[in-house]
Order: sequence, then C-alpha cells, then structure tokens
Amino acid sequence: MTTALYRRYRPETFAEVIGQDHVTAPLRHALRSGQVNHAYLFSGPRGCGKTSSARILARVLNCAQNTVEHPTDTPCGVCPSCIELATGGPGSLDVVEIDAASHGGVDDARELRERATFAPARDRFKVFILDEAHMVTPQGFNALLKLVEEPPPHVKFVFATTEPDKVIGTIRSRTHHYPFRLVPPDVLVPYLEQVCARESVPVGAGVLSLVVRAGGGSVRDSLSVLDQLIAGSGPAGLEYEPAVALLGYTHASLLDDLVEALAARDGAASFRVVERVIASGHEPRRFVEDLLERLRDLIVLSAAGERASAVLRDLPSDQLERMRSQATHLGASELSRSADLASVALTEMAGATSPRLQLELLMARLLLPAADDSRTGLGARLDRLERGLPAVAQAGAP
Ligand SMILES: Nc1ncnc2c1ncn2[C@@H]1O[C@H](COP(=O)(O)OP(=O)(O)OP(=O)(O)O)[C@@H](O)[C@H]1O
Ligand SMILES: [Mg+2]
Ligand SMILES: [Zn+2]
Repeated sequence: MTTALYRRYRPETFAEVIGQDHVTAPLRHALRSGQVNHAYLFSGPRGCGKTSSARILARVLNCAQNTVEHPTDTPCGVCPSCIELATGGPGSLDVVEIDAASHGGVDDARELRERATFAPARDRFKVFILDEAHMVTPQGFNALLKLVEEPPPHVKFVFATTEPDKVIGTIRSRTHHYPFRLVPPDVLVPYLEQVCARESVPVGAGVLSLVVRAGGGSVRDSLSVLDQLIAGSGPAGLEYEPAVALLGYTHASLLDDLVEALAARDGAASFRVVERVIASGHEPRRFVEDLLERLRDLIVLSAAGERASAVLRDLPSDQLERMRSQATHLGASELSRSADLASVALTEMAGATSPRLQLELLMARLLLPAADDSRTGLGARLDRLERGLPAVAQAGAP
C-alpha cells in the first residue's frame, strides 16, 4: 500500500513550505542572523503547515552546520540530526514532540519540566514541540509557566495550535507568535501541478481548481482529495468529468447554460437548467453555492480584465473565453446584484423546507431586474439600456 500524499510530501525545509512566506521569511531572517527566541507559537487553520514548520525549526536549530559563528536557516540534510529528523526518520533524542491532545495534563507538564533540566544528549538544543497546544490544561500551562518564561539556555519551545486563544495569555506573551494562513488557489494549484508531475499523473484542465475548492485552502485536505482522485483514476490520469461528479460540484456546462440564459433574459431556458439540476440529483443549495462562485469569477473577470486569467488560473482557455463573454453580457452591476441575490438565497435556503422552491424563486428574481428599484437594480437596468438591450423584459419570454 502506498502512503498518503500528504505524508510523502511533507516539507523538510522552510523553502518547501508553500503559501506562508509572511511567516517563513521573518523566521528565516531571524535564524540567519542568529536571533533565536526561546519560545515560538505557530497558529493557524488545519493542515497549513504548523507541525511541519515546527519540525523544520527544530531541525534547523539542531543541525550540526548551524553554529553560533555561522547561523543558518536551512537544515544541511546530511548531519546525524538532520537525517534523524527527516520525514520518515527515527526522530532525535533532543527533539521531543508532545501531543497535547493526549499529554496535556499537569502531570505531563511536570514531567516535561523535569526533562528540560537535562542537557541535550548530543545536539545544541533540547527542543520541545507542543503540538495541539490548545489541549494543554490551564493547570498544565501554569506548571510550564516558569520554564517557558526563563528556560535554561539549551531549551527551546515550539507551540503549534489551531486555537491560539486557548493558549493562556501568560504563555502566549512569552512566545514569538507566527500566524499561519489558509493557502490561496494561485499558490496551491501550481503546487498540486508539481505533485502530479512528480507522481507522473496527467491532469485535465479544471481538475485542480475543483481539488483546491474541495480542500478549502488546507494543503493537507487538498492533497487528500487529490489522493482520492488519483486512486480512482486510470492511465489517462485525472479528468474533469469524473472529478466533478465525484466531488459533487456542478458541471461547468450547467453553469454556462444558466448564466447565458440569464444574460439573454431567457426565462424558459433558465428554468430548464433548474429542471436539469434537480433531475440530475444535485442539491439545490450546492448548486446555488456553485452559481455564486461562478458569479464571483465573472465579477473578477469584469473587474480585472485581461489580468483576470492570472487570478482564475487553471481554467481551460475556451472556458475562460466563454466566461469573458458572459461577464460582458451581464455587465458589472447586474453581476453584483445577482451575486447579492444568490447570497441571500443561500442563507434563506439553510432552513427552508423546500430548497427547490427557493431555487426557483431565486431564478425569478435573477430574471427580473425591472422589479427591483434598489440602487443596484436601477444600475443593472441602466447597464442594459447602455448596451442597447430592453431594460424591462418578461420572465419566461424566449
Ligand atoms: N504550507 C505547506 N506547504 C507544503 N505542504 C504543506 C503545507 N501545509 C501543509 N502541508 C501538507 O499537509 C501535511 C500536514 O501539514 P501539517 O501537519 O504541518 O499541518 P498542521 O498545520 O500542523 O495541521 P493541523 O492543524 O491539522 O495539525 C504535510 O505533511 C504536507 O504534506
Ligand atoms: Mg499539526
Ligand atoms: Zn544538518
């Protein structure tokens, strides 16, 4: 059995950590200039590199090449410590990783205090990585307080947590806090492209955007989704059709049909799309989410013009062309009004007994800018007049 992608592709140096430059750049600078603090706090959402970075930091600190005279920010990779701390390596005696989810009690904290008094076995520092630090009990933190405040010179702490607010303030204020973030698509998509290339898996256009959307900005979640798609793929690699079906997203062509029907004020065609959505077993709420996402892409296209392709990368070029024409046809005000309507509908659908009815009502509202005398509604009508289309059209007209 092969191991999961996210375990094989764990970064081993700061240069390999993606999407966290705001954290890695200053941290690396501090390391290069030999300014090492005694305690660090890495916070941020799930699967974005906190534990990996804590291990990299430990690896840098204890690398035999990293000396007082020649500080460095990159583990050499060949000294005994670097080898032991590599992914899949046995680990080193001087780097202690503690999972606070299971060892966050006061006794564990006392034991840690005890261990910290011993000098490192071989390397420069004794590094304690307290992972899932929000799980340390308040008593546990209190037992650590003195140690974190004034540790012996050979002791370093790295706290990693998704919930920095749960790390008591007295500890937090003694650390250097580095907040990690979700990784944006324009960083993740090229990264996943690389991973697929290294795995020798061909990828169809549009697939990685779906993966990144499903991963919600978490690198680990995106790699898991990719893993699943690869597992289910044949020699042709990852293809759009099975991916969109498996991940449950609306096929781009359905969204094209709907947006084009809306732009043409073609009520019958719009409701036919709704019919197809329901008939193909899509959840109306999911569909509105996807529609909202599409409207957002069109807004980006109409606002950023030629440069939008950089933002919306991974779209096949024919799809990009189609969407450009959709953006022009709908116009900026109409797009923004439609997005507002879709977003309100999404909220209303949450508790609705008939989401399908809500979806149909949304269609009616999207088709009828003339019924809307708000500023955006008027703006949309003006847009249409300027483009020489009738400002008032009947829903249902062909
Ligand atoms: N910034 C990143 N760059 C490259 N790979 C990453 C990054 N973040 C996460 N990964 C991938 O996800 C896996 C898990 O990352 P890591 O354990 O560092 O996440 P975490 O932030 O500690 O998550 P959690 O909050 O769930 O503990 C890594 O092995 C790696 O494959
Ligand atoms: Mg972690
Ligand atoms: Zn080394």
